[in-house]
Formats: sequence, structure tokens, C-alpha cells
Amino acid sequence: MQRIFAFASIMLATVALFYLAGCKDKGNDAGGGGDGKGGGEVKVGVFLELSGGVAEFGKATNRGIELAAEEINAKGGISGNTIKLITYDIKSDSGESTTAAKKLATDDKVNVAVGAVASSLSKAAAPTFQQNGIPMVTPSSTNPTVTEIGDRIFRVCFIDDFQGAACAEFAIKDMKSKTAVVVLEKGSAYSQGLGRFFKARFEKLGGKCIPDQEWPPGEKDFSTIVSNIAKSEAKVDLVYMPFYYEEVAAMAKELRKQGVDAQMLGGDGWESPTLVPLSDGKLEGCYFGNHYNPKTDNAKTKSFVEAYTKKFGHEPNSLAALGYDAIYAIKQAAEAKGGVSRDQITQGLAALKDFKGATGTFDLDAKRNPRKNIVMLKIVGKNFEQVREIKPGDVE
Ligand code: PHE
Repeated sequence: MQRIFAFASIMLATVALFYLAGCKDKGNDAGGGGDGKGGGEVKVGVFLELSGGVAEFGKATNRGIELAAEEINAKGGISGNTIKLITYDIKSDSGESTTAAKKLATDDKVNVAVGAVASSLSKAAAPTFQQNGIPMVTPSSTNPTVTEIGDRIFRVCFIDDFQGAACAEFAIKDMKSKTAVVVLEKGSAYSQGLGRFFKARFEKLGGKCIPDQEWPPGEKDFSTIVSNIAKSEAKVDLVYMPFYYEEVAAMAKELRKQGVDAQMLGGDGWESPTLVPLSDGKLEGCYFGNHYNPKTDNAKTKSFVEAYTKKFGHEPNSLAALGYDAIYAIKQAAEAKGGVSRDQITQGLAALKDFKGATGTFDLDAKRNPRKNIVMLKIVGKNFEQVREIKPGDVE
């Protein structure tokens, strides 16, 4: 009897081992969604800055993602698979971003990942997804090197070569700037890249730049940087500020405190409902480039703005719109290839054509980037008013 029992235990253990091995393979190949043919789940791993220095970025993006998933699930999911969002707060920290990517890849075994907002944080996560064969879509990281990490890394926003060139064009032609200073955050892929692309184009168009000013991550006191600008021999008429909203507001206050009356210009990193309140009105009349304007007369934009406003009680900003577009782009990609496995989503994204999103209509190119317009916004009171739209062709 004992012998029979022992034999049965060994058999059971063997069967269990085979079963586990089978599951593991399936997980690696298809993600949590099985063969992805329908009737299952598609696990979407979301890693975002929900707290910490740029929490406003992550929170807005997450709302757009939730709305898209809810709408899609209400209509039967992606090829019959229900979207399951598995969300991690990366706390605006690159170590947290890498950890979240590892968890999503090895514990949660997601089919696809969406995040982060800040380029440096997307760069911290992307290698893990690439190595595990998991497609990743960053809604809003604009630094060109993010998608260069590998053929599984995609984005649904424009890139900073274009954003920087467009801002320079606007600085020279619309703001009539002649002499500028570029202020940069050390160690930030976004800041360093965007600043460099702006400067190259600004100088090419005949503008002059005094030497760049750099501040280290975590800096709260911008008095030295600003006094360097204030005492510069060549008087600057423009300060280009390619970094994120909290520091933008702090720097604007310091510039005005020290009597620097130059105009200020920035990029998408200014987008936050807290930008104006934090700045004590010192950014009034300044400009920044951004991904979309919620007032655009476009059917997709309108239906998104309406659904979002109904659900959350406020107008969606560009981060929310890009989060929403990332989920719908994944849906279109999966459906074009007939399923939600990692490979099907990857192949579908690589061939994404004529995607009609809340932020516009686009294809993904061979480098996994879209070509999209940038809107130049003016800060008027609490509002951001569009003053110009620039197309990629305008700055090439
Ligand atoms: N483009 C920024 C980056 O790459 C992030 C960002 C996008 C911020 C959109 C605000 C709005 O770091």
C-alpha cells in the first residue's frame, strides 16, 4: 500500500512539473493571454509616475488608460480578450521603474507594457521588456533614444528632434528672439536631448546662445543659475526651459525675482494642472510646445474629450490623451494580427497604419515612432491657448 502511495505521489509530482513547465512556455510566448485567440484576458502592465516629483504626469496618463480599457472592455475587449490592467507606481524614480518592469515581465507575465512618461524612466524599464520579448508602448517619452533600445519598444508621441526644432522655429519666427540661454537638468535624457535639438536649430536659424546653464537633479534653489544669466554680458531675450513643471515654476519665480525679464519657452514637460498655481503668475504670456489641444475640431478628439470629461469631471490634458491612444494603438495592432500574444502585438505595432487617435492620425515608422504635429500654447491665466501648429515638414 505504501509503495502504491509513493508511486502515485511521484506520478503526481511529475505531472505537476510538466504542467508548470507548459504554463511557463505559454507565458513566455503569449503573455498571460494564452494563445490570444479570444475568450481570455490580455494583461496590460502599466508602470507610471503616480507619486513623487512628476506625479501629475502619471496620474493624468493613468486616467486616459483606464478610460480606454473601460470602453474597449464594454465592447468585448481586444479580439474577444478582456483587458486586465496591472498597474505599478514607479514613484518618479528610475530604480522603481526597473523594478516594476521586472515584476511585470517575470511575476505578472504581461502581454504588453505601457509607460512611462519621463524619458529617463522609460529608458530604465525598456531593456527588461525588450529582453523578455514583451512589447512596450510609451505614451509620452519623447527622447529619441527610448525606442532605439530595441524592436519591441514603441511610442505614440512625437520625438524631441522635432519638438526642439519646432520650438526654435517658434522662438525665432514668432517670439522674434535673437539671444537665448538653454537651461538643462543634469542626467535627464529628456532635458539634455531637447535642449540640444533646440539649440542646434536656433543657431542654424541665426540665433545666438550664451553658454548653457545646468542644475543637478533634486535642486530646489535656482538662485545661482539665475544670477549667472542675470549677469551675462550678452543680454538674453529668451530662456529655453526643457524640463518638468515643478522646476519650471520655481525657475520662473527666481528669474523674475532677480529682474530677468526675458521671455520663457518650454516643451511638453510644462504640461500640468499645477504649473500655473505653482508659478505665482510668473509664467503669464509664456509659451510651450505640446502634443494636442483638447479644443481641436476632430471627431476622435471630440469623442475622447467628451467621454473623459463625463467620467472625470475635467478636461483631459495631453498626457491623458496619449495614455488613451497607447491602449487603442495596442488594440488596433493586435486585431490586425488576429490575437493578443506578445509577438502579434509587436508585429501589429511595427506595421501600425492610419491609427486615428485622440491626438491625431498617424502611422508608426521603421524606427517605431509616429510623425505628428506639435501645438504651441500660450499661458493665459489658468488656460493654455493654441497660437500655432507646426508640422514635421515645416522644420525639415
Ligand atoms: N516628453 C517628456 C519626456 O520624454 C514627458 C512628457 C510628455 C511630459 C508629455 C509632459 C507631457 O520626458
